[in-house]
Amino acid sequence: MNGTSKALVDLLKGWPNPALLPAAQIKSASSIALSKPEISIPGLLYGPDPGYEPLRQRIATWLTEFYQPLLPIAAERICVTGGASQNIACLLQVFSDPIYTRNVWMVSPTYFLAMRIFEDSGFHGRLRSVPEDEEGIDIEYLRKALRKSEEKASVEGNIRPTLKPVRPWSKIYKHFIYTVPTFSNPSSVTMSLQRRQQLVRLAREYDACIISDDVYDLLQWPADTMASQSSMEHAHLLRIVDVDRTLDGGTDREGADGFGNAVSNGSFSKIAGPGCRTGWAESTSKFAWGNSQVGSSRSGGAPSQLTSTFISNLLESGELQDHILHTLQPAYARRYRTVMATIDKHLIPLGVTLPQASRDVVGGYFIWLSLPAPLQAEEVAFFAKRDENLVIAPGPIFAVTGDEKPVDLVRNVRICFSWEEEGKLAEGIRRLGQVICRLQNVKCQPGKETARPNVNSSSVVDQYR
Ligand SMILES: Cc1ncc(COP(=O)(O)O)c(C=O)c1O
Repeated sequence: MNGTSKALVDLLKGWPNPALLPAAQIKSASSIALSKPEISIPGLLYGPDPGYEPLRQRIATWLTEFYQPLLPIAAERICVTGGASQNIACLLQVFSDPIYTRNVWMVSPTYFLAMRIFEDSGFHGRLRSVPEDEEGIDIEYLRKALRKSEEKASVEGNIRPTLKPVRPWSKIYKHFIYTVPTFSNPSSVTMSLQRRQQLVRLAREYDACIISDDVYDLLQWPADTMASQSSMEHAHLLRIVDVDRTLDGGTDREGADGFGNAVSNGSFSKIAGPGCRTGWAESTSKFAWGNSQVGSSRSGGAPSQLTSTFISNLLESGELQDHILHTLQPAYARRYRTVMATIDKHLIPLGVTLPQASRDVVGGYFIWLSLPAPLQAEEVAFFAKRDENLVIAPGPIFAVTGDEKPVDLVRNVRICFSWEEEGKLAEGIRRLGQVICRLQNVKCQPGKETARPNVNSSSVVDQYR
């Protein structure tokens, strides 16, 4: 069998399909920005450290409308960033010390490209995986592991930051927790409100900063495949940063230092275009100011200044909100429903399962599948490419480097429905069904075990990411 005669179906690449990019809207927003000196001049000069002020204000208003938190969001809580990835690096530069900060706790499976960002900041060998279940992060597992980490720090006399100077705008946290709590990449799982509350309490107890990568929140729709509705104007859950703001006295409670224990890392990559390289971070005003004081922003101001003027215009006119509600949500809902219907028909009968099958709201870019034993994700991915010209992401690439053992991902694969042409999505799932079926047949014959292919998953991903 040779897949090369078939057209490639790419269910790995986590990019938006080009047809969903709002090029026309960005064209007119940029033209307005560049033709008005009161916008183009600040847009083309160095900007303020926390970002282009009109954009901060518009983001604050827009997020207040979308999340409907207990308290309105003020612009001082917002720091404009160069996107979610770049801002993780900035957060670590300001709020971590490579020795005093003990560990980075990553919900596993994790967004694999975040790991290098943590390692670049000195956390190689100190990334730790935390399992998740049907409700999200496993709190008891994390509690025990944090306690152990603290015992170790105490034995080692690791009691104050040594490599970072004391600076009034920052603090050094003992721990970082990294999570994608809504429509996670890759597991698609959404963390329940109760777990969010438990996580905030635990972070406070152990002086941890939760980086909540909230980049998929706006891409949501009802899970029911028969629903006529395919867009939703308001978030269905509070973010972790909203919980931290108000839970048990909130971030201003007595005895707290005002920095809080959570930051929401947002991005325009999934809702405008990744090439914008623009995002925002929201936390307490004290934290947001600290975030903006990272050396690379002090020298030159916040990143993405010119793009900020375009996006500010898109939010002011309401075109970005319209694009999300009337183009992106319906398009992704349709894509998701096509894939789910094909999974139901072709994969579920083979024993494939999915997490959180009964939730009301779904979203994001991904579907996470568990293969029936004894199939292994890497062999399925290998034969899918070789025999069907189908690319999927094998689970092990989402394991936390250096701490793979606690979470077994050998039987998982991630399907991305955002990138491939809509008309090829169902075909991709059908091909996957054929690969699974063939492997099951071979494996069921005594003595006919398939050799596990020698694939290097990370090089597969580098090729297609
Ligand atoms: C969880 C998560 N965080 C961050 C990013 C990247 O965001 P940005 O383009 O803003 O750096 C992605 C993109 O795939 C992602 O899935």
